[in-house]
Amino acid sequence: MSTESFRLQPGSYCSGETHIPGDKSISHRAVMLASLAEGESEVRGFLPSSDCEATLSAFQNMGVLFDRVDATNIRINGVGLGGLREPGNVLDMGNSGTAMRLMAGILCGQKFSSSLIGDASLSKRPMQRIQIPLKEMGADITSEKNYTPPLVIHPVNHLNSIQYELPVPSAQVKSCVLLAGLFAQGKTCVTEKAITRDHTERMLQSFAYPIEVARNTICLQGHCKLRAGSINVPGDLSSAAFLIVAALISKYAELTIRKVGINPTRDGFIKILREMGARIEILNQTYFGKEPVADIVVHNSELHGINIPLDLIANSIDEFPILFIAAACAKGVTNLSGAQELRVKESDRLTTMAIGLQALGIEVMEKPDGIIINGGQFQGGEIDSGGDHRIAMAFAMASICAKGDIIVRDTVNVATSFPNFVEISANLGLKISQY
Ligand code: S3P
Repeated sequence: MSTESFRLQPGSYCSGETHIPGDKSISHRAVMLASLAEGESEVRGFLPSSDCEATLSAFQNMGVLFDRVDATNIRINGVGLGGLREPGNVLDMGNSGTAMRLMAGILCGQKFSSSLIGDASLSKRPMQRIQIPLKEMGADITSEKNYTPPLVIHPVNHLNSIQYELPVPSAQVKSCVLLAGLFAQGKTCVTEKAITRDHTERMLQSFAYPIEVARNTICLQGHCKLRAGSINVPGDLSSAAFLIVAALISKYAELTIRKVGINPTRDGFIKILREMGARIEILNQTYFGKEPVADIVVHNSELHGINIPLDLIANSIDEFPILFIAAACAKGVTNLSGAQELRVKESDRLTTMAIGLQALGIEVMEKPDGIIINGGQFQGGEIDSGGDHRIAMAFAMASICAKGDIIVRDTVNVATSFPNFVEISANLGLKISQY
């Protein structure tokens, strides 16, 4: 299997104007809810990445018909909550934790058996966090002995509703329980200590499904209907994050990214960067359905190190690889604690980032639940992304401040979230080639 590499040269920058591909979290949910809705829905701005394509093929495998108008526009013929068919095959969720955990919630409510598998990285990720609440609902779901995929699900007579308090902040677990709750008898409620991304809640409302959101508890009754509709997917703030930091650390830069989702449960990294001295403006705010959208304007800035506030971690959980690059280019020390969740992402992001930063000459200290980064000067060097898309893209951006060439190995998974990353970043001034 080809793993691909990036070569980056010094003298890169990130400036100009661009759009960004659709939001990954919202694209998954749009396909899921449109498939379970009654009638034809239109999804515009879908992210045609390998993660989201895996979700789409899973529903196709379960009898959902769709018309692919083009790569990013899809008409989906919803089959209703009771209309999915037994898949002919195992459902391969590729690299996507979101697809596997959310699908498991849906599949536990079906009258047929199913199996979910994933690639080498997904096959190592913890599934006990969804198995516990799903079993409490009466589901028949098993995994490997160490609670990793494959997941095998068998039908049960009915699912019970539950009141579940999330032990770890996780939108995937919250969404899994809420989606299982669509098929349960009675009212399912999920309470979270730290508010996590709320795209499932917003999208259920877009499909006219009755849900109650009161502070940090979300409740829904099972067996109501989802009404088909049209969904416009905003640009992905997590993909925009790479370009935002790239512009901040470029010498003379002004970058505008149009129509990016600015959901307040996702914008923690903007608050962190502003605390580090970043000049970021949010302009022309509007809504795509229930999701807030805006243009983001970034000016190159002098960054300084900070203690990252604990209460911003859940809302910036995917942005730490690129935040660590910002910290390495900042003056002084940046300290992160309370972020042990980073160890169970597409790679162990604390270790993979620490090794990569050190390889490029940055002084770091890895902690069990975080990292301390001493701002310095990037040298050239070679990085192994560990097959993690966000680590590959983060180290590509390090080249803006580096003295020598940077080679990033194992970059093929960039296509799981940002398929045209190389083209967009090269257009904005990154000296990047792929081989
Ligand atoms: C996601 C939730 C987060 C995030 C992931 C997408 C989602 O995972 O890291 O990239 O779409 O619900 P956790 O729920 O594991 O924090």
